Formats: sequence, structure tokens, C-alpha cells
Amino acid sequence: MKIIVTGGAGFIGGNFIHYMLSEHPEDRIVCLDKLTYAGNPETLAPVIDHPNFSFSRGDIADRDYVFDLFSREKPDAVVNFAAESHVDRSIEDPGLFLRTNVIGTGILMDASLRCGVRRFHQVSTDEVYGDLPLDRPDLFFTEQTPLHTSSPYSASKAAADLLALSYYRTYGLFVTISRCSNNYGPYHFPEKLIPLMIVNALRDEPLPVYGKGENVRDWLYVVDHCRAIDLILRDGRAGEVYNVGGHNERTNLCVVEEILRRLGKNPDLIRFVTDRPGHDRRYAIDPSKIKAELGWEPTTGFEEGIGRTIDWYLGHREWWERILSGEYRDYYEKMYGDR
Ligand code: NAD
Ligand code: TYD
Repeated sequence: MKIIVTGGAGFIGGNFIHYMLSEHPEDRIVCLDKLTYAGNPETLAPVIDHPNFSFSRGDIADRDYVFDLFSREKPDAVVNFAAESHVDRSIEDPGLFLRTNVIGTGILMDASLRCGVRRFHQVSTDEVYGDLPLDRPDLFFTEQTPLHTSSPYSASKAAADLLALSYYRTYGLFVTISRCSNNYGPYHFPEKLIPLMIVNALRDEPLPVYGKGENVRDWLYVVDHCRAIDLILRDGRAGEVYNVGGHNERTNLCVVEEILRRLGKNPDLIRFVTDRPGHDRRYAIDPSKIKAELGWEPTTGFEEGIGRTIDWYLGHREWWERILSGEYRDYYEKMYGDR
């Protein structure tokens, strides 16, 4: 199988490419990535010389480029990770999220129809369901939960999901969608909660916790997500949505305290800062469907996964230290300067 993986220089796409080349070395992977601030060629350095891997720099919202690449490569399948992915940035610049996440997904599907792609997998998020109340631990997102978005990011992902389902129904494109909870693990850009807190703690910088730190996320180790996508890509049913999550709910404060404890750092580093506007309270996934249909279950619990993740950041200082310069510094000053 030849697979175009978009957004493969980012966090989950990069982990997915490493996973696929190790689990299915017979498959050919073509990574399409624009290399925005979030795309890092160093994430792909371990596979760059693999005989079944190639890289193409380009924009999924550039129709001519995408059509040209697809007609040259003639992929069997497409997995679309490429996206603007950070909620806080979407509050600052929603238009960019519409362009990449919605228009870009549409262009990828047009090219897929034109070139006879057999399977198109859209990587979505549990954030399309909105949030759950903190005082109802009995409630979970199922695939039937209505879409009810809170941020420009989640609204753009929901729009892309609906567009993808329309391409299945109207044009017969073989579309599958996964909606996963928050991922963590190696190669995670240090603007998201877990890598930001690890990196700041290692540098004895303050740890900015929004509001009271009581919001809840359902954390999944990234390799478990990659395995779920691989299963859906091979055996998922056309036009179906699969929720992916591992019942690893934690409050943000609990996650941050755990990181400090493991690094032997002082909890005084925590700073409670102004809350995010429209901040979703709780995400929690019911993964029964993917378990029943595809036999997927998470294999890495939070204790093990956070330990591995911290070890990775300790062992890959050069990867994240290089990021903490230039554009990142300006971003950090803008977002946290007078918060
Ligand atoms: P990321 O921000 O780390 O990586 C995104 C990648 O897409 C980068 O390599 C970037 O260069 C590339 N990209 C951005 N715009 C592009 C464009 N116009 N054309 C081509 N490439 C472009 O994101 P991530 O955290 O790895 O998330 C990947 C996907 O998974 C996203 O679609 C996201 O919505 C979804 N998702 C993420 C999480 C999470 O916890 N991170 C959870 C569920 C779903
Ligand atoms: P994030 O990693 O941005 O993922 P998402 O918003 O997509 O769930 O944030 C995870 C949680 O951590 C979310 O509730 C917001 C919170 N958060 C902080 O408290 N401080 C921070 O500096 C960041 C980036 C996030």
C-alpha cells in the first residue's frame, strides 16, 4: 500500500510515520507537510533514509500542488493529520484554521477522488463534541453525541468532519474518521500542556495553569492513537466515525503536579493564570465501538506513558531547545506576557 500522510512532520503524524515504517515496512509512505512552526524535519530524521519513505514540502490548501503530487504518486490511501492544531492560536487567528483545516481537507478529498484513492482517513478530535460538565463523571462522548464546538479550532475540525462525510455520501469516497482524546508522548510541540510543563519545569520557569487547573482531559499515549488509526485504515468501515480514548482522565493540576513530582521540582513553580476564553471543562471518550469492531484497546496507562514521555524530553534536549528560540519566544511572550 502507498499512503500519503499529511502533517507527518508534526507530533502525531511523525509518530504515525515511525510506527508504520516499523510495523509495516512493506508499505510506502509519502509525507506531505508545509513545515509550519509546528512541523519539524528533525522529527522525521530517524526515517529520512528509509527506502520506503519520501517527503514533499507543500500546502494541503494549494490545489495545484496537491493535484500534481497525487497524480505523480497515485496513492492507495491518504491519512490527513495536517492541521492547525492549537486552541489558543485559533482564538488569535481563526481564518488560518478555516483555510488549512476545512479548505485543505476538501482539496485533499478532491484530489483523492480524481486519482482513485481507495481510502481517505480524516484524523479528527473529541473536541468536536464540545465539553462535559465536571460534576457528571458518568457522561462520555459516543459517536452519537451531537457536535457542539467551543473554539474556532474545534469548529474547523467539525466542519472538516462533516465535509468528509458528505464526500462519502455524495461522491462515494471511502472515508473514515477517528475522533481521539488528548495525546501525549515524544515529539510533542512545547506549546501544548504536557510538553510545555516538562520543558518549563526542566528550566525552572513558571508553569502557567489556566484558571484553577480543574479542567479535565482524557490522556492517550500517542502510540496507542497510531495503532488505532492503522486498524481503522485497514479494517474500518466506510462512512464511519470511531472514537479513540483510553479512560485516563486527569485534571490539569493533577497532571502538572505529577510532572513536578517526577522531576523532583518545587510545586511553587505553578502559576495560576487567566483562564482561556470558552475553556472546555471536561473531555471523556467512550471507546466501545472501536473496541467491539476492531479490537482496539489502549496498552499504555498514564503512569507508564508520562514516565516514558518525561524520559524522552530528558534524552532529547537538542530537539526542544532548538524550538525554544525565534518565533516560539515571540509566541510565548504574546500569550503569557501579561497573563
Ligand atoms: P501538530 O500541530 O503537531 O502538527 C501539524 C502538522 O501539520 C505540522 O507538521 C504542520 O507543519 C502541518 N501543517 C499545518 N498546516 C499545513 C498545511 N496547510 N499543509 C500541509 N501541512 C500543514 O498537530 P498534532 O498534535 O500532531 O495533530 C495532528 C492531527 O491530530 C490534527 O488534525 C489534530 O486536529 C488531530 N488531533 C490532535 C490531538 C492532540 O492531542 N494533539 C488529539 C486528537 C486529534
Ligand atoms: P492543550 O494542550 O492546549 O490541549 P486542548 O486545549 O486541545 O485540550 O491544553 C490542555 C489543557 O491544559 C487545557 O485544559 C488547557 C490547559 N492549559 C493550561 O492550563 N496551561 C497552558 O499553558 C496550556 C497550553 C494549556
